[in-house]
Amino acid sequence: MCGIVGYVGRQNAVSIILEGLKRLEYRGYDSAGVCLEKGRRLEVVKKAGRVDNLAKELGRRRFTATTGIGHTRWATHGAVTDANAHPHVSSDGKFALIHNGVIENYAQMKAFLTGKGYTFKSETDTEVLCNLIAYHYAKEPARAKGRNRFMESIRKTLHHVEGTYGIAVLCVDHPGEIVGARKASPLILGVGTDEYILASDASALVSRTQNVVYLKDGEIVHLTPKRFSITTLDQADVSPVVNQLTWSVADSDKGRHAHFMEKEIFEQPAALENAMRGRFSADGSTALFGGLNISPGEFREMERFMFCACGTAWHACLVTEHLIERFARVPVEVDYASEFRYRNSPLDPRTLFFVMSQSGETIDTLAALREAKRKGFRVMAVNNVVGSSIAREADGGIYQHVGPEVGVASTKAFTSQLLIGAMIALYVARMRDMSYSDGVEYVNALKGAPELVRQALKQAPKIKAIAKRYAQYHDMLFLGRLSLFPLALEGALKLKEISYVHAEGYPAAEMKHGPIALVSEKCPSVFFAPKSEIFNKIVSSMQEIKARKGPIIAIATADAPLPDDLADEVIRIPECHEAVLPIVAAIPVQLLSYYIALERGCDVDKPRNLAKSVTVE
Ligand code: M6R
Repeated sequence: MCGIVGYVGRQNAVSIILEGLKRLEYRGYDSAGVCLEKGRRLEVVKKAGRVDNLAKELGRRRFTATTGIGHTRWATHGAVTDANAHPHVSSDGKFALIHNGVIENYAQMKAFLTGKGYTFKSETDTEVLCNLIAYHYAKEPARAKGRNRFMESIRKTLHHVEGTYGIAVLCVDHPGEIVGARKASPLILGVGTDEYILASDASALVSRTQNVVYLKDGEIVHLTPKRFSITTLDQADVSPVVNQLTWSVADSDKGRHAHFMEKEIFEQPAALENAMRGRFSADGSTALFGGLNISPGEFREMERFMFCACGTAWHACLVTEHLIERFARVPVEVDYASEFRYRNSPLDPRTLFFVMSQSGETIDTLAALREAKRKGFRVMAVNNVVGSSIAREADGGIYQHVGPEVGVASTKAFTSQLLIGAMIALYVARMRDMSYSDGVEYVNALKGAPELVRQALKQAPKIKAIAKRYAQYHDMLFLGRLSLFPLALEGALKLKEISYVHAEGYPAAEMKHGPIALVSEKCPSVFFAPKSEIFNKIVSSMQEIKARKGPIIAIATADAPLPDDLADEVIRIPECHEAVLPIVAAIPVQLLSYYIALERGCDVDKPRNLAKSVTVE
């Protein structure tokens, strides 16, 4: 949800900011803009549309600024127009500001400022924030002793703000300086040689430095080309911790692939290997997690598990629920983070709370984590982005270690969440009734998952051909049972988000309780049909669809005895252990939605109305 980048240093700020914006574009792509220092003026260039539009516009002009800020927008307040694009400039022309987040009390502040003679050119909450800084600046004594007036006006402003923000601000009176601050929206500082880059995430700065400081909520950073300092809203000095990024710029490049989504789908065997590396016990019968910060004894005492997440990560939690209950026989509850945070659901005290989030910045998941902590629960995070808000606020956790996921549609993050969920189930099961030999068999199955995924990926040409035949349908059903019911939900979500095809995921047998009314020759059904003790029931559901002329695409394990002529298309996946099945079954639905989106001419990596990381409620 919006990407921000700021640069102070000795190099040309335009190219560095533009490169950063291109890498942050997955966070929002409604409009893009920059503000650059030009002598004692602030020059703003901003355009509705993609960063490429902005780059063309900037290419027509010559900028030599060494300080500047840039923004790529996911619209919240106000339509997608040039005027609503960031940066916004205060009506006295002194300040330019970029913002990721939502200012909830902007209407009251706008009324107040209007009464004081401030004027507004946009419909955004951000412009109000910018003018409030100008208001406080005008009131601040020009020579506050030992204080930076620019910093102080921002500090004062933020004391009045309700909502969330990651901001970067320029001031005409303070050339060569940027002030940044955050509350519930990510902000990271890249520490280079005689230069600093402030950004929403590391992808925007990793080409210039691997040294970063993760800013915390309530912190304000002040930058000049020579130094940086961090303080809190209450003026306390903060001693910064400089971390080393563990990935390089190549990790966030598309390489030879047409889209990030394609790259990330095909990266999955390696991603799974990374996610499980070093995480099995020496005797090969259980999982090991280094960062849980909870002893095996305490873990053993837990009588329930609660998982909260959003979107695809929520689907991974549902599979995890199935595996923990199936193998460890411990009750698990899964909730949408956005519901949990307001539901006030009764929780048993011996519950271990988990949140799952690729980005670690999803605001609803972060709020669920905070709510659980407020209630006194220990919260574990399954998370991919190192140093994210969720990683920092959780009591312990398990990193996914799959490198940056840039495609808006989650793929490798999903399968690694499934893998980690399966490992949690194993860990809990081995503390209870699972035998040593069953544990060894389970571990060996997980170790074999990357190879099975490799085999499933070989179906890509066949799935591409199927996609050609099915791309023009307007509706599709995804049906699965047990651990593959969440995969049906995931298949439907993938198709919806990148192809704009209406799709619904259902437990296969539930289909007769409503969705079957949709079935006709115009509505294909994608069935998960692994060989299992309920295989015949799945076949019966397929017959019911066939009797109503619904086209059927079956995703069946190699050993599943599908009757001839039942399915119109059959995609075979390797037979596998129950804990690995959801991981392997994810591959065909990812490929199907990817190829259908291509057939429909959709912008796969930047689907309309979406953004990678949802940092607004
Ligand atoms: O970063 P998170 O895992 O917390 O993101 C949660 C969802 O926003 C995310 O999974 C979303 O549903 C994906 N775009 C699905 O592909």
